[in-house]
Amino acid sequence: VSEEEKTNDYLFKIVLVGDSAVGKSNLLARFARDEFYSNSKSTIGVEFQTQKVDVDGKEVKAQIWDTAGQERFRAVTSAYYRGAVGALLVYDISRRQSFDSTGRWLNELQTHSDMNVVTILVGNKSDLRDAREVSTAEGKALAEAQGMFFMETSALDSSNVAAAFQTVVKEIY
Ligand code: GTP
Ligand code: MG
Repeated sequence: VSEEEKTNDYLFKIVLVGDSAVGKSNLLARFARDEFYSNSKSTIGVEFQTQKVDVDGKEVKAQIWDTAGQERFRAVTSAYYRGAVGALLVYDISRRQSFDSTGRWLNELQTHSDMNVVTILVGNKSDLRDAREVSTAEGKALAEAQGMFFMETSALDSSNVAAAFQTVVKEIY
């Protein structure tokens, strides 16, 4: 396949999962539109954006899906995960509870999607240094134990946001 065809043909589905308010929608907003909402509302149902991702100088298209962390606002689980080849499992470094929930999310992801879905564990809100409840080492250790990539991000100050999405797309590609 020529490089040209690759760019046109490949559309990777990537899903965002994690507790409510960890910053899934803002990670997507930052990545796709370079926007941030300091007062964003919970997602209702499902939203997605198609975004070009640069991988080693090549353009790859990713369709990034976002739903609510709260059960009552969520999209139909099976439809949400169907066909996903990548996932960002997000927690909030300033909220221990959201880190404790990652096992449950990983379980759901593995139940409803392909076994080899490329997953990155994302500790978001790295800008909240003074409120940190989960150390970088803990995040890293969990990711290693579960065969996930790992990165800490901030949708607020943009750090590592593109890198987190790129890590997943690069591995799929
Ligand atoms: P649900 O849709 O309910 O599942 O939540 P969500 O995971 O999509 O969270 P959302 O992106 O709506 O963000 C929740 C709150 O956290 C908002 O008030 C955001 O402004 C804030 N927030 C998101 N990312 C960051 C970040 O990196 N740093 C800081 N300081 N705040 C953030
Ligand atoms: Mg949301």
